[in-house]
Order: sequence, then C-alpha cells, then structure tokens
Amino acid sequence: MCGIVGYVGEKQAQDVVIAGLRRLEYRGYDSAGVALVAGGVIASDKRAGKLANLEKAIADHPLPGSTIGIGHTRWATHGAPTDANAHPHSGGVRRVAVVHNGIIENFAELRGELEAADHVLLSETDTEVAAQLLELLVLSGLDLTAAMLQLVARLEGAFTLVAVDAHDRSRVVAARRNSPLVVGIGEGENFLGSDVSAFIEHTREAMELGQDQVVTITRDGVEVLNFDGTPAEGRRYHVDWDLSAAEKDGHDWFMRKEIHEQPRAVADSLLGRRTPEGHLHLDEMRLSDQELRDVDKVIIIACGTSFYAGMVAKYAIEHWTRVPVEVELASEFRYRDPILDYSTLVVAISQSGETADTLQAIRHARTQRSKVLAICNTNGSTIPRESDAVIYTHAGPEIGVASTKGFLTQLVACYLLALYLAQVKGTRYGDEIDQVMQQLEAIPEQVQRVLDDAAQVYDMAADHVGTRSVLFLGRHAGYPVALEGALKLKELAYIHAEGFAAGELKHGPIALIEEGLPVLCVVPPAGRDQLRDKMVSGIQEVRARGARTICLVEDGDDAITPYADVIIRLPKVPVLLQPLVAVVPLQLFACELATLMGHDVDQPRNLAKSVTVE
Ligand code: M6R
Repeated sequence: MCGIVGYVGEKQAQDVVIAGLRRLEYRGYDSAGVALVAGGVIASDKRAGKLANLEKAIADHPLPGSTIGIGHTRWATHGAPTDANAHPHSGGVRRVAVVHNGIIENFAELRGELEAADHVLLSETDTEVAAQLLELLVLSGLDLTAAMLQLVARLEGAFTLVAVDAHDRSRVVAARRNSPLVVGIGEGENFLGSDVSAFIEHTREAMELGQDQVVTITRDGVEVLNFDGTPAEGRRYHVDWDLSAAEKDGHDWFMRKEIHEQPRAVADSLLGRRTPEGHLHLDEMRLSDQELRDVDKVIIIACGTSFYAGMVAKYAIEHWTRVPVEVELASEFRYRDPILDYSTLVVAISQSGETADTLQAIRHARTQRSKVLAICNTNGSTIPRESDAVIYTHAGPEIGVASTKGFLTQLVACYLLALYLAQVKGTRYGDEIDQVMQQLEAIPEQVQRVLDDAAQVYDMAADHVGTRSVLFLGRHAGYPVALEGALKLKELAYIHAEGFAAGELKHGPIALIEEGLPVLCVVPPAGRDQLRDKMVSGIQEVRARGARTICLVEDGDDAITPYADVIIRLPKVPVLLQPLVAVVPLQLFACELATLMGHDVDQPRNLAKSVTVE
C-alpha cells in the first residue's frame, strides 16, 4: 500500500523519483506526488489519479532542478483520493515535506492537539499531522534526523515516513515501523524505496532495515539509528535480478508477461533443492530435523491468492506426511484464539512479504511459542525476517497486481515443504519423494504447453465480453483452483464470479444456474476414478439446467466430451500437482477478458499489490 521513493545524489532528483514511482505504482495509484529541495524551499506537485496525471502537470509547469527529493504513490486510507490528500504533506511554513505509507493510529488525538494550538491542516490525512509535528521540531532547531527521532516517539501504528528539510540539501531521513523500506546504496548517491524496484536501474546493492529504525541517507553514506537513538546496522545484500526483469518485454501488461514467465519461475524455484545423493535440501530452512519431527500440527496462514496456495498445500502435506493441516485466513487467525503451541508449525505464505494481516498473525503465533516458516518471494521483506525459517520462491519481481507466477511458485514451495517434512519424518520412502520431484521437474514444460495453446483461451474470452456472472467448479486440489479462477476474474474483469467445491453445488448454489450461465469446471485427472466421475456428474447436473460448461480436462480423457460446450486440454499430471497446470488457462482467461473490456489489467480499480494495512 503506497509506494515511497527518496533520493540524494548528483542526478536530477525529479527524474529518479518519478522513474521510481513508476515501478512502485503497483502498490497504489490513487494519487502521486513529488517534493524537491531547491533554493532553500520545498518545490512540490501532487495530483489525484495515476502517476501520469502528475507527470503531465510537471511537464506543463516544470519544477526547479534539484538533486534531492522524495515521492509517493498512494493507496488511500485516511481521506479520499484528492489533490489535497495526495502526498507529500508539509507543515504551516512548508519547511519540511513528508511522504508516508501506513496508518498513524493516534492521529485524531495529535490532530486535535495541533488544531487546539491554531495550526491549520489542509487535508484529511494522518500524514499531514506527522508533517506538521516534524516541522515544529525542525523549527525548534533540531536537524531532520533528531527531529524524526523525536517525532516517532509520539506516533502509534504502522508507518514508513520519508522527509526532506528545505534548509538541508544534504540528507533525506526516513523512519520505519511495521511498514516496508529498503535503502539503495550507490556511488555518490543513495536511495530509499518501498522495495528495490524503486532504484534497481541505478544500483543492485541494497540494505534492509530492522523495525523501529531511523535512516539518514546523504550523498556519501547511510546512517541507521534505533528509535532510542542508539546506532544500528542494516543488513546489506545484492539484488539478484535487474531492470530487464522489471520491464514488460514486449507484452501489453506485466501480468501477461508474468503468466508467460511461469515455466522459468517454476524451474528456478526448483533449482538447487536436491543434494548430489538425491535428498531434498532446503537451505533457508533453519529448523532442525528434530524440531520438524516434533511437529504434530501445521497451520497455514495467508491472504487472497496465497491463501488458495495454502489450501492446495493442505492436500499435499496431509497426504504425504499424515500431519493434520489447518488453513486459515491471516486476517481471522488471531481473533479466534487459535490452539497452537511449540509443536505447531505455522506456515505463512506471502508473495510480497509485507502483508499486514499475515505479519500480525505471525507475531501472534510466535507469542504462543510456535515456529513460523515463511514462504515468500521477496528477499529483505518483513515476513521472512520475522519468521524462524523461510523458503524463498524464485519468481522474480511480480509487478501486476494480480498474482500469477507468485501463485505457481508458492505451490512449488508448498510441495517442497510437504516432501521435506515427509523425508524428515520418514512418512514417504526416498524413491517416492524422488518420483514426485521428477514430476515437479516436468512441470515447466507442461505449463509451457498450456501457454502455447493460449489462442483457444483468448477466443473463449472474446465470447464472454458482456458476461455478467461466471461460476467455477473444482474438487479436491481443483477446488482452490476454482476459487483462484474466480478471484482473478473478479479483480481484473470486475465480473461477478464464484468458485465452488463441485460437490457442494447441490446444497444450494445450483439455484444460481440459469440458461447460458458460463460454468468453468476443473476436472480432476482420470487416475482418481471416483473424483473424476463425481465431477462428471456435477457437470451433467449444471448442464441439464442450462449452464454453458467450459471444461478443463486432461489429455486423453474423453468421458467429459458429451457434457462440455468447450474443452480446454491440460497436460496429464498427478492430481495433487494439477493446480500447477489447471490455473494457467484461468489466468489467461481473466487477463484477456479484462483487456478486451478495456480495463487496466496491471492496476485494477481499488486494489494495491502489497496490502500493508490491516
Ligand atoms: O503478498 P501476499 O501474497 O501476502 O498478498 C496476498 C494477497 O493480497 C494477494 O494474493 C491478492 O489476493 C492478489 N491481488 C491476488 O491476485
């Protein structure tokens, strides 16, 4: 939620900041703004709507040259997406400019205090309150770093704040609590960003910050302090992807590019997971074999698409390890007083590593002495840092707001975890684990075959422009796939879509079926006779009531043909792995349909990529 950029160096700060915001726009696109320090004053502009509005405004009324600046792209929390509520915010004499990601929970009380002292606030935001307070501290004679340290002592909630002082051309100062911020380390220049994509075209050297830290960047260095003013050190790391990974490679949307990157992403996420002897080896595991042998229950917590990956994981972990698994929406987890202790393994799945609901659930689990293992795509993000162990997925940067390669690689990580538990606990023989690994290693090629048949799915999408409602049916591991297919359609095409466990249909939802209603059916592989046959019955039932059935069926299974209006072929894979291939046509369908309907696929309305507020 919200993207933040800070820069100090020798380049034109406006260019660096706007380019950074462009890469962070997926985090929020309700408004955008920039502030520069020039000639002892703050020069700024900010506009409601997408970054393009700000760029046009700056082109019409250029800002002065400057080599130090900050910028913001917003996902609105306090106050509507208007020019006035856009960041940066300043105090009454515009001595400082501040951008903010997060929520300042005691802002009403602080605002009341400022208004009682006759300070005039121009926006409805919590951020302006922080800006006003910071400015008063600077006007009292403190430098920006000292002022920030005093400010954060007064704030409650989650925030990343980045600020500049009109009278100080040497530094940009930021503070971080429960909200993302990374430092980019350059030569004679330094950067701040919500994530590394903000500065990846300038440097691949980064520094992660801990909780409750203030960082000051100058042209020559980076200083990190804890909120109590004691010195601290950030962890430096090298980013292993470059600018080209964050570009569209000739596709119309990042999402389409990311769908097509899935064979590579799956292959990369499988790389280096086996020793020369053939044993599974997860090098970021950090939990001992004994700790894993002691696990008697797994609880998976996640949100959105990551939650559906967790639902698939349940089938795999229970089947291969015989350990019971619960899957819980992270936002619900800590409010139901969950039963967990030191022998419960909590698995937190998050592509971004910054989802606030998931983070809070992790913190709750750790207070109950449970071990937490994160499955995450973002090195240096908060969730892996606050977990006992991590399995990184290697999807590369996922920019499209709708998760695609993030999901597939999360599935891979879940299978790896399930197999690793089975290996440690001895619930599967080595050759059985080896067989599944070989099946997984064949998946990239099978996903590629599905992608090669995209034209058929695109034709189908063209047939559904104007459709008002679509249902998705699945069974077993295909049930979460149905839910994910429906989510993709909702978030991109803004069409009413629902996913159901096919067996549940007759208990109520079948009443929704009417003449011509499209129903997408994920048919389990024929190897699982009962499952497949039950699914065929479900398809017959909806078709008999007028539904238009679009069936995703494995190669060679013709039993479905008489009941399918459209057949989409899937490669033959075992039932537990079928989500890896079955979800791909559903991603393509949603992407294409939304495109044909004229929607912004990468930045759907009301959404943001990284949901850093609860
Ligand atoms: O970064 P995370 O995996 O924690 O994000 C979780 C959800 O917010 C995310 O999957 C969301 O549902 C996507 N928009 C789905 O496409």
